[in-house]
Amino acid sequence: MNHPTMQGMAPVNAPAWVKHPKLVAWVAEIAALTKPDNIYWCDGSQEEYDRLCEQMVAAGTMKRLNPARRKNSFLALSDPSDVARVEDRTFICAERQEDAGPTNNWTAPAEMRQTLNGLFDGCMRGRTLYVVPFSMGPLGSPIAHIGVELSDSPYVAVNMRIMTRMGRAVYDVLGHDGEFVPCVHTVGKPLAAGEKDVPWPCNPTKYIVHFPETREIWSFGSGYGGNALLGKKCFALRIASTMGRDEGWLAEHMLILGVTSPEGKKYHVAAAFPSACGKTNFAMLIPPKGFEGWQVTTIGDDIAWIKPGQDGRLYAINPEAGFFGVAPGTSEKTNYNAMATLRENVIFTNVALTDDGDVWWEGMTKEAPAHLIDWQGKDWTPEIAKETGAKAAHPNSRFTAPASQCPSIDESWDNPAGVPIDAFIFGGRRSTTVPLVTEARNWTEGVYMAATMGSETTAAAAGQQGVVRRDPFAMLPFCGYNMSDYFGHWLALGQKLEAAGAKLPKIYCVNWFRKDADGNFVWPGFGDNMRVLSWMIDRVEGKGQGAEHVFGTTPRYEDLNWDGVAFSPAQFEQVTSIDRDAWREELALHDALFTQLNHRLPQALAETRAALGKRLEG
Ligand code: GTP
Ligand code: SPV
Ligand code: MN
Repeated sequence: MNHPTMQGMAPVNAPAWVKHPKLVAWVAEIAALTKPDNIYWCDGSQEEYDRLCEQMVAAGTMKRLNPARRKNSFLALSDPSDVARVEDRTFICAERQEDAGPTNNWTAPAEMRQTLNGLFDGCMRGRTLYVVPFSMGPLGSPIAHIGVELSDSPYVAVNMRIMTRMGRAVYDVLGHDGEFVPCVHTVGKPLAAGEKDVPWPCNPTKYIVHFPETREIWSFGSGYGGNALLGKKCFALRIASTMGRDEGWLAEHMLILGVTSPEGKKYHVAAAFPSACGKTNFAMLIPPKGFEGWQVTTIGDDIAWIKPGQDGRLYAINPEAGFFGVAPGTSEKTNYNAMATLRENVIFTNVALTDDGDVWWEGMTKEAPAHLIDWQGKDWTPEIAKETGAKAAHPNSRFTAPASQCPSIDESWDNPAGVPIDAFIFGGRRSTTVPLVTEARNWTEGVYMAATMGSETTAAAAGQQGVVRRDPFAMLPFCGYNMSDYFGHWLALGQKLEAAGAKLPKIYCVNWFRKDADGNFVWPGFGDNMRVLSWMIDRVEGKGQGAEHVFGTTPRYEDLNWDGVAFSPAQFEQVTSIDRDAWREELALHDALFTQLNHRLPQALAETRAALGKRLEG
C-alpha cells in the first residue's frame, strides 16, 4: 500500500495492519505538504512508549525522574511562552460566521485554508511525522469516535497514549473505510539540515483551527496540552459539540462521578466548572469525617459525552483514558486520590524538580523543599521565592496520568453504555456574589443559570487572570458552534425528554470560592464539598430540605451535615448570603451576555431573565 515516493520525500510505508486506503492517502498528502524527514506509524505499545520517552530524554525534551521516587515518570519543561491554551488563536471556521457565533473567532474556511497551507508547507522539515490513531471512548463502543492525529511532536504521541485509547487496535475498528476525524498538528519549527533542535520547539505564531462541517482540526505552533493533544478540547469538545448538535447529544466540559450512599444506593452526577476550577478535585473527592459509609467514585475529570438512552434517561461516558490535571494545589490532603494516581507512569509538565529527582509544586506539601530547579530550569529556594515571588511550578503546570491508576476509579468508567445522570452541577470561581449552592426550580431555570455563569479567569488559558467573565456552561472556550444555538440545544433536549415522560436530572449551581475580607477562602472545599453533594442527593431522593430564594432552593444551615468540621452559622452566612446590589450588577452582566448573543437567543432565556429581575426587586 505504499505510495510512490517523490524525490526527497519520506516514504509513507504504511504497516500491513493499516487497511484504510483513504487514511494512507491522507497521510501521504499531509506529508507532501509538511515534508517531514520520516513518517512513523504509532502502534500504541508499551515498548514504543518507552522508546519514544527515551528518545526525548536523549534530546533533552524530558528528564527521567528518580525511579526510586517515581517509577517510569518524566518531567518536561516547556518553552516559557507555551504554557497554556491560546483562546485568541483558536478558530471555528464554519462556512457561515453566524454558525461559529459571537463567542468564537472566525475566519472564512477558504481564507483560513490558504493561511494554513502557507504555514504547514514544509513545517515538519527535519522532524518525524507521527501517525497517532486514537479512540475517544471505549474501542468499538457505539458512543465512541475515532481520530487520527498527525503530529511532529513525540511529546504529543506519548501523551496521547495516556489520554486516549491509542494504537493498532484502532485500525481494526476503522477497517478499510471507517470514519475518523483528521487532526494535523505541528510545533511549527522546521529544522534546517544539521540544525540542532531545542528541548521544546514551538512557534510564536499559533493557530488552533477547527472546520466543523468537514470535521477537521489543524493546530500550528504550540506543544501545550489543550492546543496540541487534539483528541481533547479540539475533538472531544469543539468538534464533538457540533456532532452532538446535529445528532441529538451533548459534549460537555464536565467531570462525571458516582456517589453511593450508606444504604448502597448509587447516583451519578456530571459537573461543569471552568478550567482550573475544581473538576479533577471534585471527581476524586474523599468523603470527610461525618460521612462514613458514603463513597465517591470517578468516571471522568474533564469531558463528558452524554446521550439519551432507550429509557429516556441521559447516559454519560468519559471519552478520555487519562487525566491531564492541574498540579499546583494537589496534595495528599486536598486530593489524595490524585496523588496516589501519580505514583508511577506519569508525565509532568512545568513542575519543579527536587534535588533527589522527584517533582514538587506549590501546595504539594506545607513546607517547600530547601532547593529546587524551577519550571524554567533555574535554581529556586524559598528565600528566592520570597524575594522575587517566583513560582517553583508554573500555575498551569500539569500531570498526564492513566485513569486506570486512580484508586477511586469507578468500576463502570469504561463501560461503553455510560452511566445514568441524576444531577448536573455548574460552578464558577467567584470570590463574591454567588452563593454556595442553588437548586434550579426547573430545567429552563437551570439552563439559564448555566448559561449566565461567570467565573474568574485562571492560568489554564493565556491572558489576564482573575477577571470575571461569563463562561456559559464552562464551555466558552470549547463550544464549537453558535452559543445561542447551544442554549437552544440544551432546552430542546430537556423538552424532548420531558415530553417522553422521563425524569430530568436536577440542575445545581455551586461556588466553592467565596472569599473573606482578607482574601481567604471561607468554604473549606475539597472533601467538604461532600456536604453539598449529599444534600443534592437528598434532594434527588426527595427528602432534602431547603429554603426558596430568588434564584431557586438552597439548604439552610441545619439542612447540611456538619459532623467533623467546625463551620459556624456565621461562616455559612458568608458563603450563602445574597447581596441584592451585587446581584443587580450581576444581572446587568447577564443582560450584556444576552445582548452579545441576541441573534438566535432562545426566547425562554429572555423570559427567565425578566422573571428573575422581578423576583429580585419584589
Ligand atoms: P482543568 O483541568 O483546567 O479543566 O481544571 P479542573 O476543573 O479539573 O480543576 P482542578 O480540580 O484541577 O482544580 C484547579 C485548582 O483549584 C487546583 O489548584 C485545586 O487545588 C483548586 N481547587 C479545587 N477544588 C477546590 C475547592 O473546593 N476549594 C478551593 N479553595 N480550591 C479548589
Ligand atoms: C482546560 O484548560 O480546561 C484543561 C487543560 O483541561 S487543556 O487540555 O489544556 O485544555
Ligand atoms: Mn478542562
